[in-house]
Amino acid sequence: MKKLTEIIYYVGASDYKLDLFEGQYEVPNGMAYNSYLIKDEKIAVIDSVDESCFDEWIKNIKEVLGDVEPDYLVIHHMEPDHSSSILKFVEVYPDVTLVSGFLAFKMLDQYFHHEFKNKLLVNEGNKLILGEHELTFISAPMVHWPEVMVSYESKTKTLFSADAFGKFGAFDYEEDWACEARRYYFGIVGKYGIQVQALLKKAASLDIQMICPLHGPVLDKNLDYYLNLYDIWSKYEPEAEGVAIFYTSVYGHTKLAVNELEEKLLKAGAKKVVKFDLARDDESEAVEDAFKYGKIVFATTTYNMSIFPFMNSFLTHLVEHNYQNRDVAIIENGSWAPNVEKVIKERFKDSKDIRFIEPVVKILSSMNEENHKQIDQVVDALLEKSEKAETKKTQKWVCKICGYTYEGEELPEDFKCPICKHPASDFQKIE
Ligand code: FEO
Repeated sequence: MKKLTEIIYYVGASDYKLDLFEGQYEVPNGMAYNSYLIKDEKIAVIDSVDESCFDEWIKNIKEVLGDVEPDYLVIHHMEPDHSSSILKFVEVYPDVTLVSGFLAFKMLDQYFHHEFKNKLLVNEGNKLILGEHELTFISAPMVHWPEVMVSYESKTKTLFSADAFGKFGAFDYEEDWACEARRYYFGIVGKYGIQVQALLKKAASLDIQMICPLHGPVLDKNLDYYLNLYDIWSKYEPEAEGVAIFYTSVYGHTKLAVNELEEKLLKAGAKKVVKFDLARDDESEAVEDAFKYGKIVFATTTYNMSIFPFMNSFLTHLVEHNYQNRDVAIIENGSWAPNVEKVIKERFKDSKDIRFIEPVVKILSSMNEENHKQIDQVVDALLEKSEKAETKKTQKWVCKICGYTYEGEELPEDFKCPICKHPASDFQKIE
């Protein structure tokens, strides 16, 4: 339990032993299920916790309330990590009123098949008056499920933001916020950028001093930093300069190409290169960095006339999460019917603004001389050197005698002005 303001308390709990959050995400630093309590004339508990943390949650509530019973349980989100304790909570506090939206109550029935006696239905803009404090409900569909609402408490200027602004990690685990918040966002909410943008627009009209999410720490300083990252992420804009390489390699030949590309990129001045072996590295970390960087390389082998399984799974994740607005290079390997370029381009055919870089590095079993040249060209394209070369071509010289202008990469030594016939020595470079 932790006191956040004179009357708002943190009463959530953390699971430090969970192996996989949502059945798929490793959470080495635990997982927080946040719940809050507003103790005004009326008492509202804001959201519940995963059933695994029920005992600690009730202990925290009783630490604040003693034998006093809460009036309301506000349900912003019905996913079981926040709802699986509801029935047990009602067994402890049978007179409590559940406060939520229509869809959430429908899901409540689906999960519990139980007749809850006290329910208060709220919609967008409705208020729950607790005394001096009141909650105004704002619908936030698909952030991250369709029934999601957030609420704003105007006296303390607090946004109870449901899954938005959440992260992996226990409540009291101190670490860089952005790293685990980004992995959480792109893994769990990332598909719904449009809906997050809609929520950010609604939030922009509010004076917010504190954000209380359902996972991760309470945010009460530098809120612009978090809001700005959410804006970048939900617009699918690259957040950092750099190249992210994702590869699979069966016998090491594709890996050799990847290592050569990495080395050449760094030598040519790439600010940052990150590399993921999709068969060995954590997939959610790879998904996170695919969204973090704007220049992307996929390197894989042809397999069963498609692509290697780990790359297949990775690309499925990206496409399903609305992957877009990236420059993508391909390294293909195949020994008798290479198919990688075709499969990858087909996979992104309906994705927005996936710009494929030429040439594709086409390896037949192991690298040849042509492949080394293709890698050089990919390095240039990724670092946009070709654009700089293009700029160089537009150099101009002016004839000091008649004013004629010559354009080209270089002024030939034997050049004569076509107007006044003066030699190249009478021309001046225009800087
Ligand atoms: Fe934290 Fe969408 O549940």
